[in-house]
Amino acid sequence: MTVFSRIVGTGSALPERRVDNDELCRELAARGIETSSDWIVERTGIRQRHLAAPETSSSMLAIEAARKALEMAGVAAETVDLIIVATSTPDYVFPSTACLVQKALGAPGGAAFDVQAVCSGFAYGLATADAMIRTGMAHRALVIGAEVFSRILDWNDRGTCVLFGDGAGAVLLDAGSTPGILAARLHADGRHEGILRTAGNVSGGGITGHPFLTMDGQAVFKLAVSVLDSVARETVAAAGMAVSDVDWLIPHQANVRILQATGRKLGIPPERVIVTVDQHANTSAASVPLALDLAIRDGRIKPGQHVLMEGVGGGFTWGAVLVRM
Ligand code: UT7
Repeated sequence: MTVFSRIVGTGSALPERRVDNDELCRELAARGIETSSDWIVERTGIRQRHLAAPETSSSMLAIEAARKALEMAGVAAETVDLIIVATSTPDYVFPSTACLVQKALGAPGGAAFDVQAVCSGFAYGLATADAMIRTGMAHRALVIGAEVFSRILDWNDRGTCVLFGDGAGAVLLDAGSTPGILAARLHADGRHEGILRTAGNVSGGGITGHPFLTMDGQAVFKLAVSVLDSVARETVAAAGMAVSDVDWLIPHQANVRILQATGRKLGIPPERVIVTVDQHANTSAASVPLALDLAIRDGRIKPGQHVLMEGVGGGFTWGAVLVRM
């Protein structure tokens, strides 16, 4: 019997503190940083973000999102035999955030590891879990995107600090006889590693390199629009389908102008593109599963519909996963 993977539950978590643009601008003004809500909205579509309290970690957000996904599916945590956490802001250098999640959920014994593909991390994690389920290496998997990007932001750099937020999203995948995940495609081009990075490390009891996120926004913007279009077409074609068969497009939520341009290039109307960047800002690996959970819970995404999820970000990495819900 051919085995497929299928999404049977979703969940998400956001830190309690919601910071709108006006509040952020006031805080930045107090540091002598000049920006405005109008600039942020016009250039990015972002209106607010959630920021984690100092004691909140990626694993805590991941655990909350995972518990909600398990609850939606009505399954016990101990039946999960694979946990993948996509994060660039792990709790520790090691052990992996996935192992911390596994411990908290009480699901020992299966595989647990983190993937590092920055804002493409959820697509990378979902594609990996799908491959492991289809080859019989796992039967029930949690794939989680979890980030506290606020920790790596330079609050003196107005070009980046207004763009990001914290949060987590999770999906529970089950093995079954019907798909599920129809196709996935992943890519990277390390030649562009310098345009978006946090080039620091822990070494000899201190930090070496630069501990804050840096970005060439325009270079990232141009590449993102190009690869989100190409990988969407490639993934839909791999499933033997047409772009017009896609009911919902969920691109990585970095900038509403990128979302609009991607939908426009693909010929997918704006009302079929899920947008959460206005509410969550850019939550890196968490942005796509957060958006998926929101649109499932508010009733927009329905069983049987086709959802195309896309990641793009540092590395440079990109990827897409086409799913029948
Ligand atoms: O998650 C991974 C994927 N990340 C992305 O996809 C991000 C992609 N890039 C972008 O979304 C956009 O490039 C940005 C939102 C980062 C920037 O928008 P832009 O339209 O490319 O603006 P820009 O960088 O060309 O800057 C335009 C102006 C500059 O001033 P001058 O040189 O024209 O005088 C900036 O200094 O806007 C200025 N600026 C700001 N002004 C007010 C930059 N940041 C701010 C700010 N407030 N926060």
